[in-house]
Amino acid sequence: MSTYKYYINGQWKDSDSKETISIISPYTNEEVGKVQAITQEEADLAIKSAKEAQKEWATLTVRKRGEYLYKWMDELNKNKEDIATTIMKEVGKGYNDALKEVSRTIDFIRYTIEEAVHMYNESMSGENFEGGNNSKIAIISKRPLGVILAISPFNYPVNLSVAKIAPALVSGNAVIFKPATQGAISAVKIIEALDKTGIPKGILNLVTGKGSVIGDFLTEHEGINMISFTGGSETGKHIAEKSKMIPLVMELGGKDPAVVCDDADLNFVAKQIISGAYSYSGQRCTAIKRVLANKKIANELVNILKNEVDKLTVGSPEENSIIVPLIDKKSADYVQGLIDDALAKGATLICGNKREGNLIYPTLLDNVTLDMRIAWEEPFGPVLPVIRVNSDEEAIKIANESEFGLQASIFTQNIDRAFNIAPKLEVGTVQVNGRTERGPDHLPFLGVKSSGMGVQGIRKSIESMTIEKVTVININR
Ligand code: NAP
Ligand code: G3H
Repeated sequence: MSTYKYYINGQWKDSDSKETISIISPYTNEEVGKVQAITQEEADLAIKSAKEAQKEWATLTVRKRGEYLYKWMDELNKNKEDIATTIMKEVGKGYNDALKEVSRTIDFIRYTIEEAVHMYNESMSGENFEGGNNSKIAIISKRPLGVILAISPFNYPVNLSVAKIAPALVSGNAVIFKPATQGAISAVKIIEALDKTGIPKGILNLVTGKGSVIGDFLTEHEGINMISFTGGSETGKHIAEKSKMIPLVMELGGKDPAVVCDDADLNFVAKQIISGAYSYSGQRCTAIKRVLANKKIANELVNILKNEVDKLTVGSPEENSIIVPLIDKKSADYVQGLIDDALAKGATLICGNKREGNLIYPTLLDNVTLDMRIAWEEPFGPVLPVIRVNSDEEAIKIANESEFGLQASIFTQNIDRAFNIAPKLEVGTVQVNGRTERGPDHLPFLGVKSSGMGVQGIRKSIESMTIEKVTVININR
């Protein structure tokens, strides 16, 4: 088994701590490899080297920085099967989905470069303000923030890492990249590809180690100028409390509802809900995590959903099963606890509630009521509650009572009805007649309430990692 090094100032190193973390595959339960548990002193050196390297990097043209990123795309492309295999083994994602994640990431980098080279300075004239005149002309340019701390989650270890790194680099920032520990080998692979581009030393430093050990040190460090974080809401809130007056962009948890109106095309709806709720065993921030079904169609919808759930493949990521073992035992215990609580309080079990280790079979619960934990908590697992509602108004009320506000779906054949409901839902994005999902990745992506702060999506991510610089020319007329 390989022991992977961390990456600092252009060099791959073993940590002085002499400590490594063993990464266990969620489905084979065997070791995939070991990563370094770096020390605070090493994290400090990484930030200092990023700070130093960023000065020169920021002076390069956007096209020159883009050249390194184009080469990164090529390197990722050359190694995409190996990277996909690593994702599969490390986080238990189906191989085909892992391969799609790598391809999506390559497309993400290309679009990021193209977007950045088409972002221009603005200018304003003093004459537009009351009493002003045209003797003042302001040139508004964008400059990088400095050193970006990019912290990513386990479930998209490549895509959600690069979604921070590429916009940061193209806009002239340096990056401290702290991947999820379960995901850190995938992170090593993508940074090995970046290293091959000859990118200047120190521009990207990969720091591996448990968030609970090095996380606060990184977050509180004065050399960090901005944090781009994706992960759970509790971790996000903790980071927000620790950080020191720097911009934060946070993509956090969700409890995305699918509002199913009584005029919806139920066969179509069921397919969208099933793929939305159960892909990768529901381990997506944007998974559909509750169905708010109008009582008039609820029986029929639940019947169709059951038939679709019965078709889901359960087993190994190597066979591209839809339902795969969850990331670890703690997560599976948590999901089981939500199912047990709902059943104890009277929910109807339509199918599922079977478990083999970390593998939870797809579970559908009907007649879920608001006193049940599953009505409110994010399972991050393959369990879907159906809550029956009397009206659109009741669906909107329950949707908004959640602490989360990532996305929501509305299913109806009446577009006016959809457009009456959509503005009332307290979420970042409403999908009309489609499952909740982040892509395509250039769309703005955001959560409100406990689901996040700030906006991602390629252009928005670049904007969030830069700040305006205003230079005013005073003309003597
Ligand atoms: P997590 O446990 O919150 O971990 C996310 C990242 O934070 C990991 O890199 C983790 O490192 C790090 N971390 C932990 N404690 C930290 C600290 N004190 N300071 C700094 N960093 C720290 O989340 P996860 O289990 O990986 O991912 C699942 C969650 O992420 C779900 O809630 C899901 O909804 C959310 N998510 C949201 C989005 C979105 O776009 N809204 C996308 C994907 C996932 P370690 O791994 O070393 O602990
Ligand atoms: O887990 C959160 C991801 O941002 C979801 O992305 O909707 O494309 O699966 P996705």
